[in-house]
Amino acid sequence: MPPRSPIASPLVLVGFMGCGKTTVGRLLAQHLGWHFSDLDDRIEATAGVPIAAIFAERGEPAFREIERRELLRALGSAAGRPTVLALGGGTVVQPHNWDDIRASGAASVYLEVPLEELMERCAGISNRPLFRDAASISALFAHRQDFYRQASITIPTGATTPAEAASRILQALGAGALR
Ligand code: S3P
Repeated sequence: MPPRSPIASPLVLVGFMGCGKTTVGRLLAQHLGWHFSDLDDRIEATAGVPIAAIFAERGEPAFREIERRELLRALGSAAGRPTVLALGGGTVVQPHNWDDIRASGAASVYLEVPLEELMERCAGISNRPLFRDAASISALFAHRQDFYRQASITIPTGATTPAEAASRILQALGAGALR
């Protein structure tokens, strides 16, 4: 039986590509004894093709529609089952998505990582269609900060391990550190 938790479900992780939403989210779910759900995985399972193929064949607006549908489904499932939900880097840049996340009663965490660190982490990765040249990435990063900062808490995680990041999140949410 997982220990009772003061954290609201879903616990939603937001932040830029490469900030560790999936890795940290899995650790949090493991610690809390909660279900883990990754929005990108849900999108790929529903579409039956990789995200890069959705962007290439149908364009970003079509991707954002599928993303929104899956977000609403994931929030619905999380109502009946405590869940840590890792979003995509652009999910909360759609204001109506933030509205629905808030309306679900979710706790939200922004995993804040400096741009230079994100660039290093994502260099050479080819499955992220929006991770292009340095200039467009830094413009995207700057544009998105106001959206990410709407999370209930912001945790700087640039120089930390995923386990340290998870521990900090649990402490900030009043649920103790990782054991
Ligand atoms: C995107 C981030 C990706 C994925 C898609 C679009 C974005 O998720 O949803 O490629 O707009 O930043 P990750 O943040 O998990 O890489």
